[in-house]
Amino acid sequence: MRRKMSLLVAVFVAAMCLGQSSGFQKLDEWTEVWKEGQQTYFGYPCNQNSALREFYEWYLGSGMYGVNLNNAGDPMNGQPWKMSSSTFEREVIEYFAPLYGFEKDQVWGIVTHSGTDGNNHGIYFGANYLYNKTGKMPVVYVSDEAHYSNMRLCDLQNLDLKLIKSDAMGRMIPEELEKALDTSRPALMVYAMGSTFKGAIDDQEALNAVLDKHPEVMVYRHVDAALFGGYLPFTVHKDMVSHKKMRFDAIAISGHKFFGIDSPSGLFLCTKETYDNQDNFQVTYLNGNMKMINCSRDAVQPLKFWWMIQKVGFEQWSKQANQMMECTAYLKAQLDKIGWPCWRNEYSNTVFFKRPSKEICDEYVLALGYDERFGGDLAHVVVMQHVTKEKIDKFIAALKNAK
Ligand SMILES: Cc1ncc(COP(=O)(O)O)c(C=O)c1O
Repeated sequence: MRRKMSLLVAVFVAAMCLGQSSGFQKLDEWTEVWKEGQQTYFGYPCNQNSALREFYEWYLGSGMYGVNLNNAGDPMNGQPWKMSSSTFEREVIEYFAPLYGFEKDQVWGIVTHSGTDGNNHGIYFGANYLYNKTGKMPVVYVSDEAHYSNMRLCDLQNLDLKLIKSDAMGRMIPEELEKALDTSRPALMVYAMGSTFKGAIDDQEALNAVLDKHPEVMVYRHVDAALFGGYLPFTVHKDMVSHKKMRFDAIAISGHKFFGIDSPSGLFLCTKETYDNQDNFQVTYLNGNMKMINCSRDAVQPLKFWWMIQKVGFEQWSKQANQMMECTAYLKAQLDKIGWPCWRNEYSNTVFFKRPSKEICDEYVLALGYDERFGGDLAHVVVMQHVTKEKIDKFIAALKNAK
């Protein structure tokens, strides 16, 4: 049995090195397209340097590939059932809690299906919290540059939403929030920590100062930190994603962005106070109180997170985060050097610039934007771990040639 397993692992490893055929021509052709595309993947925030090879070797070699686990239930509160990875999920949340400024005994969290799933919980938990505290449904305030999932989720949850104007660089304007604030109802703030196109960070302190002028308004703060929440805890700017420093109640982060989980996943963390003020659903067949939205939840993604904590960990993530900041500054400097109009928000790994030709946009999988204040057609590069200085040099050369 053991020999058979070793053989299987050897075949798997050899296949990965040699580029194994699937036996399906169409799939093999697409595999080549994807592997080639990965080399110049500049426009979207997926870390293409995934550190999961050994995980897959273990997954196959241990026979786990044939075991169907399910994390239905609450990983933080209750007895994890045997056929789940909830014990590991809880350890993941406890590892990340202090990085986002939460005390271990005052945090609740889950590994989510994505950043959107985390925002869904942030908005749902925030609305329930405010309703249970005040007897009134809140108004949600989001900047007009925030990710569309927040608007979609307010629609889905039938919540009143006020879109607040942002400045040219994409940050919610505090004076506009002040003008729009409905002081007769609680406020559910969604702060963008890295707006999707311009990489803007809402100025939490300035916006909180506006809210502090109205003590009669009960406030709940959810931070949508899908991308920036991955790398900021590992930089000198870590206070921006600290619950303790910034007073937010909940935060959502994507797992497939900075952390390089190879399919959609994420983290959602909130205060225990938030959790304690949710509606109860005692579910007998799951032997617990189900406060979260989803029933079945992925059991493999928490294992991948847990694996990365052991194998990559704080030091490597800090190195990667700082390399990303350095390469972002390098990209901006190189664009400036060739006179290509470009802009970057502080603390951001996103540089947006005048849109180049369609050929270059296609080759580098650039994400597109439009803003007349910056001359109209725009594109952006998100400097993730795989966007190195060498690759940036090639990209700049391509722009220069096209010029
Ligand atoms: C700011 C922001 N929030 C939320 C999301 C959605 O995250 P996900 O794709 O993990 O659902 C994104 C995606 O790019 C984003 O940029």
